[in-house]
Amino acid sequence: MSAERIDRDRLPAHVGIIMDGNGRWAAQRDEPRHVGHSAGEAALFDTVEGALELGLRYLTVYAFSTENWKRPPTEVRFLMNFNRDLLLRRADELDERQVRVRFIGRRGRPVPRRLVDMIERTEARTARHRRLTLQVAFNYGGRAELVDAARAIARDAAAGTLKPDRVSAKSVQARLYEPEAPDVDLLVRTSGEQRTSNFLLWEAAYAELVFTDVLWPDFDRRELFSAVRRYQDRARRFGRV
Ligand code: IPE
Ligand code: IPE
Ligand code: MG
Repeated sequence: MSAERIDRDRLPAHVGIIMDGNGRWAAQRDEPRHVGHSAGEAALFDTVEGALELGLRYLTVYAFSTENWKRPPTEVRFLMNFNRDLLLRRADELDERQVRVRFIGRRGRPVPRRLVDMIERTEARTARHRRLTLQVAFNYGGRAELVDAARAIARDAAAGTLKPDRVSAKSVQARLYEPEAPDVDLLVRTSGEQRTSNFLLWEAAYAELVFTDVLWPDFDRRELFSAVRRYQDRARRFGRV
């Protein structure tokens, strides 16, 4: 699938991707699971190139969920180190391409301090860019995000700066991890699983869902283009007729 067949005037304002299938990709090769995670790096950066080529403005990728702590400690440790090293390796490239990097998720323990430091350095370094915003959902859960927003609302109500009867969808939106990000128009999940696994519950309320059997390490910009093409073939109604 080439980029030419995509209507540039009807691009999704925000694309979310659940990067799934690394472990199965490795198992197919009789390799340990971490080999699949490593192979996913090239897939991610080719996808980012594809997003830039298309002119997408917001791309959010699911890198580590609040549920992924339940994995074996060796895999969890690998993923913490891997994500830090990935930022070290790729920060120059992202900066040169004018990609603003943002992390969404909870940054406190048990996320290692040296990963949080690297995240904050990368965010600061790329903060001025607006060509593409790459949001990395890390220690992210849609429910945790809504719980955090509810806590913020409760604090404001207790402080007397927000009246309970005035709480609206806007009040919730304003307290999300990235309030400025537009709603997700297109949500892609790889590896054949057809569920959203606690990703962007609020933001993807009206997203078009595209599932592909491709395992994440085999994903690339052509797969992104074909997902955008499938999105453009959908009829969106938002409750209207
Ligand atoms: C997605 O691949 C990456 C993360 C969740 C970190 P998986 O590791 O879930 O791979 P499968 O689903 O077991 O194949
Ligand atoms: C979702 O994938 C999380 C990420 C891709 C980071 P999982 O592989 O953790 O989801 P489940 O467990 O299959 O729902
Ligand atoms: Mg998985």
